[in-house]
Amino acid sequence: MAGKSIRHFFTNVICGLVYSKHGRKKLRVLLNSPLMEYIRFIRADTGLCFPRMRTFVGYQARSLIISADNRWIYKFPLRRDNYRQLARREQRIVRALRPFSPIDIPDVELIENKGMLVRKYEFIRGVTLRGGPRDVIMANLDVLAAQVARFLYDVACADPDEIRDLKPEPDAAPGYMRGWCQGDVCDNFMIDLKTMRVIAFIDWEDACFCDFSYMFNCEKRTPAREFMNAVHIEYDKIWHMRDKQ
Ligand SMILES: Nc1ncnc2c1ncn2[C@@H]1O[C@H](COP(=O)(O)OP(=O)(O)O)[C@@H](O)[C@H]1O
Ligand SMILES: [Mg+2]
Repeated sequence: MAGKSIRHFFTNVICGLVYSKHGRKKLRVLLNSPLMEYIRFIRADTGLCFPRMRTFVGYQARSLIISADNRWIYKFPLRRDNYRQLARREQRIVRALRPFSPIDIPDVELIENKGMLVRKYEFIRGVTLRGGPRDVIMANLDVLAAQVARFLYDVACADPDEIRDLKPEPDAAPGYMRGWCQGDVCDNFMIDLKTMRVIAFIDWEDACFCDFSYMFNCEKRTPAREFMNAVHIEYDKIWHMRDKQ
């Protein structure tokens, strides 16, 4: 107990020295995680003695994410008592929706390790909307938005039986901005900057069958705000085309 308090005390002191908010968050996560144990696990799983590793901390710092050799991504849970249930739910949703999505949804592998459930994904080479160069992203906003609108539409229209029990009501039907949705589209897709193709949608932990119009209404900073407005316009085009068919 005392050891833990001392560790927290030093973590706070060290993190206090880091200026950026994201840098502080990441450092706190790293210092509070059994990093050596995770590295040993990744070595054993990949069979590589020295895989090149990079760490990521997502938007809400729910997991410590480690990439290995730009080939795999491992997600280690940070808090949340129900993470096992969430991981299994994510795997079921991903596997059921993958066949319907026009954009790749990386499969989730679940690995038991010393009482912990680790998630493993294929590594996607690309940048996120906020991670890419702002001027390039802004110049290609419409091209990106059209792809994401098509993805939103196709995934929402899919209503696979395998995950019917995960809907709030099993008989709920898809509709305008209603159906299966990843949950937070603007932060969770990867772009190939060379072709401006959206190559994958990651992070399905919060996916749900819901009214997803909320994604277009919330306050967002640039470029997410402009992007979501463009997606809205493209989505409406697809929806109205469907009416005419
Ligand atoms: N399969 C992947 N390929 C490449 N990078 C990834 C992958 N999964 C996650 N990342 C990196 O980690 C970051 C956070 O991952 P994410 O799954 O969105 O976690 P969180 O649930 O914490 O939001 C992403 O923005 C991305 O930079
Ligand atoms: Mg995310």
